[in-house]
Amino acid sequence: MHQPLTIGRPRWFDSLPSTNGWLRDRILAGNPVQSGTLIAARTQTAGRGRGERSWISGEGDIACSLFLVSRRPTSEWPSLSMACSLAVAEALGEFGLAGAVKWPNDVLVNEKKICGILAEIASVAGKLSGIILGIGLNVNMTAEACAAVGKPATSMALESGAIHEPGVALDVLARYLESLVNRWEAGGFPAIRDEWKSRAHRLGREIRVEGPDACREGIFHDVGRSGELILARNGVLTTILLGEVE
Ligand code: BTN
Repeated sequence: MHQPLTIGRPRWFDSLPSTNGWLRDRILAGNPVQSGTLIAARTQTAGRGRGERSWISGEGDIACSLFLVSRRPTSEWPSLSMACSLAVAEALGEFGLAGAVKWPNDVLVNEKKICGILAEIASVAGKLSGIILGIGLNVNMTAEACAAVGKPATSMALESGAIHEPGVALDVLARYLESLVNRWEAGGFPAIRDEWKSRAHRLGREIRVEGPDACREGIFHDVGRSGELILARNGVLTTILLGEVE
């Protein structure tokens, strides 16, 4: 049994191009970065989202990245971001909000996106060194800024009717991340699968999954032992590893 991971106190920056980019550049430059390092920026000038999209957040939101070194097989690493989205959804409960997880790793409140996660592999000279988990959580985003996102989006402030201090919210989130990541590290996705399913958006219902080369429709039947989405259509089950639920 190895040492459980400890997430240190977050290091806050006023402004960075991208918190994921800052960690990646340090690692690439050969600087030692400890597993459990958490950094956050009050503003990002070039925040990145999944699928080459940009990520816009304001000063009152959370843009943070966590670096992790895992002993689990790399084939299991994709489900680590699902442990993170579950941590965010559970942390939101401390603010009176009911978070749902949307496969693979978004977090919704009242069917609107409140958090996105960008997981990136960090490698030096072709050797994997760990995983960078970038988390963008809308804490105090205004209704106008949410409307400009283009897809249904919300924030903790809009859903709770109160302004929240991003530093306090991140400290709460860090506790949940530490617990969920340690459980994932000990037992992989199966260790958190039931909990993830209990918060899953549209499980058992009709969904559309936009994949890299195909768009599939069917019933969201299950998530497998590695976090893969299992879609049912006309009695046939299809396993989907990559994509986005629309
Ligand atoms: C998504 O597209 O839903 C993922 C968004 C991830 C945004 C976060 S904000 C902190 C970290 N730094 C980045 O540049 N992106 C991630």
